[in-house]
Amino acid sequence: MHSTGRTAALFVAVAVLLLAGFAARAQQAQQRAQPAGQEIRDNIAPHPAPEQPIPFSHKLHIAQGLRCQTCHTNPDPGSEMTFPATSTCMMCHTSVAKDRPAIMKLADFEKSNQAIPWVRVYQVTPGVTWTHRAHLQAGMRCTMCHGDVAQLEVMAQNTSVTAMGSCISCHQAHNAPTVCSTCHAWPST
Ligand code: HEC
Ligand code: HEC
Ligand code: HEC
Ligand code: HEC
Ligand code: HEC
Repeated sequence: MHSTGRTAALFVAVAVLLLAGFAARAQQAQQRAQPAGQEIRDNIAPHPAPEQPIPFSHKLHIAQGLRCQTCHTNPDPGSEMTFPATSTCMMCHTSVAKDRPAIMKLADFEKSNQAIPWVRVYQVTPGVTWTHRAHLQAGMRCTMCHGDVAQLEVMAQNTSVTAMGSCISCHQAHNAPTVCSTCHAWPST
């Protein structure tokens, strides 16, 4: 009886040690795979890229020397980085590749004065307090939260930035506030 109990206890202890080892190694592997400068984990489950009205490659365009903020501005009150005005695209595409179907579609949006209906990729749960501006002012860079966008041929939700655990772990790492009311309005009054 006793020895069975001890064997079982030993077995559990070994299993726990093995699991801890696996977890540590899995975490190391994940950290190694992540782009330099990214401060939060990638999503474990794959998040396929949504189909966009026009196929847009960040990799191709950033290789042209364009900066993020040429296309993504941060107007008041500063919560959003916004999507580029079609006229920003047309600085080049009135001439560049203008005979290709995707660029003809782009030109149609421009002509009809319609905003391109880009499908959202990253989205925080409604009601959670969020703003880009406070983060940019605190020196947080795009890569920290969105990963190495310059290498993306299609935009997908590769990082876990919209999860509460990611918000909080980065806040801890940068001595930013972690009390619930930083991000949640409840309990209201
Ligand atoms: C030539 C303009 C252009 C440049 C430069 C550009 N982007 Fe974008 N970005 C877009 C367009 C158009 C979309 C919407 C289509 C898509 O998701 O691919 C987008 C989408 C995104 C999204 C997803 C938004 C969402 O729906 O949640 C992120 C994140 C993003 N860009 C980050 C960046 C970062 C970081 C850089 C700089 C490294 C950058 N972009 C440079 C045009 C641009
Ligand atoms: C601290 C993390 C963080 C940083 C730094 C950050 N983003 Fe975001 N980004 C997010 C989150 C979270 C969302 C989802 C926001 C929402 O739902 O309103 C988002 C959404 C976006 C969107 C979708 C449109 C919008 O504004 O909601 C774009 C485009 C974008 N980010 C581009 C950028 C670019 C370009 C930079 C660098 C200049 C940047 N982000 C820096 C976390 C970050
Ligand atoms: C600085 C100039 C510049 C800007 C601004 C720019 N592009 Fe481009 N774009 C290019 C170049 C260069 C290519 C590559 C053309 C080639 O393959 O010969 C390209 C290629 C493309 C293609 C692929 C065309 C094809 O089918 O081969 C699409 C789609 C596209 N751009 C969309 C956009 C959109 C949408 C915007 C605005 C959000 C934008 N571009 C802004 C320079 C630009
Ligand atoms: C890459 C690190 C990082 C990530 C990820 C991050 N934050 Fe932050 N956050 C900061 C830093 C740094 C500050 C600035 C703190 C300061 O000004 O003292 C900040 C400030 C804020 C503020 C303003 C606080 C205030 O009172 O001024 C809010 C709200 C906030 N973050 C919400 C979020 C939410 C929600 C998420 C997840 C969706 C998130 N943050 C993800 C680093 C991060
Ligand atoms: C730095 C920002 C941040 C802080 C601080 C924070 N949360 Fe959250 N919380 C979030 C985000 C972002 C979500 C949405 C997560 C998602 O959609 O996966 C969330 C979601 C939740 C939810 C799910 C229901 C809902 O409202 O969406 C609960 C419950 C919650 N938080 C409780 C707390 C409690 C309790 C605290 C304080 C101990 C806290 N949170 C502090 C960012 C934060």
